[in-house]
Amino acid sequence: MLIKQRPSWVLPESEVTPKSIYLNRRKFMTGAIGAAASLTVPGLLHANDASSGLKALDYRSATEYSTDEKKTPLDDVTAYNNFYEFGTGKGDPAKYAGEMSVDPWSVEVEGECERPGRYALEDLLKPHDYEERIYRLRCVEAWSMVIPWVGVPLADVIKQLQPNSRAKYVYFETLHDPKQMRGQRSLFSTVEWPYREGLRMDEAMNELAFLAVGLYGETLPNQNGAPIRLVVPWKYGFKSIKSIVRIRFAEEQPKTSWEMLAPNEYGFYANVNPEVDHPRWSQKQERRLPSGILRPNWIETTKFNGYEEQVAHLYKGMDLAKYY
Ligand code: MTE
Repeated sequence: MLIKQRPSWVLPESEVTPKSIYLNRRKFMTGAIGAAASLTVPGLLHANDASSGLKALDYRSATEYSTDEKKTPLDDVTAYNNFYEFGTGKGDPAKYAGEMSVDPWSVEVEGECERPGRYALEDLLKPHDYEERIYRLRCVEAWSMVIPWVGVPLADVIKQLQPNSRAKYVYFETLHDPKQMRGQRSLFSTVEWPYREGLRMDEAMNELAFLAVGLYGETLPNQNGAPIRLVVPWKYGFKSIKSIVRIRFAEEQPKTSWEMLAPNEYGFYANVNPEVDHPRWSQKQERRLPSGILRPNWIETTKFNGYEEQVAHLYKGMDLAKYY
């Protein structure tokens, strides 16, 4: 039996669970002795929110990579999500992602590299300092947010794992555990689990590609992909895979989840592009959250989500209508 652990901001004050109880639940859920200790990511400051289990992170502001657009409020960032492992409704991840235990966590590294193996999350992150980067996130469904992520450049982690010359792509996989992820138990699910994503090596090494472990200064809420997720701000949001348990360096272009599901609608590249419409809707505009019926807040979508200067060279000579 899994016990639901909801973040504090969806609970009225009276229902907030004391930390000791929360930790016991966590221990009970994982069944692992010692797993109840705080999430042991480096740079952790202190448990500043006893009820939610989120921890404050120690980071520097990477303003050179950050937009000064208005940030989407935390409530929207954490209540309006896509995380099909917990259901297809926008509110499902906030409701049910607490059923996933994220501590301890490890990442399997395999394929064309010198440092394969199973890494405890804290070992993977130990060599790196955290940065805060305020990025735009543009979903293929034509809504967008501005999110202050905390994490490390993907390139730094890749260098640490030492890919060899045969490594042309990096592949990522999300946790597959139907016991903890109710969307994976669903008979109506169309996704072939686990959720998979990938990048070409030069895309992965681009300075903007980021591995996030937090947002708004604290560790990631489960619904946003705790404890570690990819953020690729110039691509549609589905490339930014959550709750990563596997990284593989490959010679061949990997199959990715949305491409497997509907190859005529979702491609491997998935660069944000207002000039190439989705077969069923326009990509020229996006609804910037928060938005409502009376104030839909439509704005123009920009090529590569406004990161053209940093990434356009990666696609020189490529027909982006063909490689969508
Ligand atoms: N990763 C996994 N494992 N499962 C998912 O369903 N959805 C993707 C992406 N990563 C998804 C995922 C989509 S479609 C988007 S738009 C972003 O996560 C949303 O991230 P957010 O909920 O943190 O805003």
